Amino acid sequence: MTELDNNIDKKNVPKHVAVIMDGNGRWAKKQGMKRIFGHKNGVKAVRETIETAAKLGIRYLTMYAFSTENWNRPKLEVNALMDLLVNTLQKELPTLQKNNIRLETIGNTEDLPTNCRKNLQDVIEKTKDNEQLTVVLALSYSARWETAQVLKKLALDIKEENIHPDEINEETFRKYSNTKNYPDPELLIRTSGEQRLSNFLLWQLAYSEFIFVEKLWPEFRGEDLIACIERYQNRERRFGKTSEQIN
Ligand code: FPP
Repeated sequence: MTELDNNIDKKNVPKHVAVIMDGNGRWAKKQGMKRIFGHKNGVKAVRETIETAAKLGIRYLTMYAFSTENWNRPKLEVNALMDLLVNTLQKELPTLQKNNIRLETIGNTEDLPTNCRKNLQDVIEKTKDNEQLTVVLALSYSARWETAQVLKKLALDIKEENIHPDEINEETFRKYSNTKNYPDPELLIRTSGEQRLSNFLLWQLAYSEFIFVEKLWPEFRGEDLIACIERYQNRERRFGKTSEQIN
């Protein structure tokens, strides 16, 4: 790692960082190119973010790669994004292995094209024992879809008397959610200057710090992630308590 991370308190690095990668289309338009050119150039930002997260000791990195609503984009763009995903995963597998990085997904991956699903499954299987960092790709994911899934599974379990309504508490939602194996993200980063959640991890982000970055996703680099972690470390997280109680 360069001296860029010198100001980071290694003991207070967030365990889980969530990222909304936004601005690929606008970046491409600025260059007079088609939207997919922006997605292709977003891959370098993905690679640098993952590499830097692993070096900083972040344990979970959840990246919003394709939302449920993204299916409504022009078919050409959707297909190109799926191809890009498959090709990138195949190409990056050796790097994931070398850096001890595990790949997992959240979302309705059954919706993805067969070749995409096969490739994903292959990379997930081959990296399942890696431990340095877990990269969670949110694919065909939206928080409201996830909430409906949780309710459906819970209703079934109540019907089959596996759980009694009196036993339901906050932990229950977690156990039925897509993210049951991960701690809640301490930090959410969104690029491109937009300041909204866009149906991402509504439950899990209840107490997270939000950092909005002006750069468009294809311009985002490892040093930008480091700057976000520094900003995060300068925030006071109170979880409903007073400042005096915390200090
Ligand atoms: C948002 O930009 C970006 C996406 C919907 C896709 C993110 C995908 C990548 C970065 C490519 C590959 C990813 C992986 C994990 C290999 P936008 O199209 O909404 O941009 P806009 O708001 O400027 O139109």
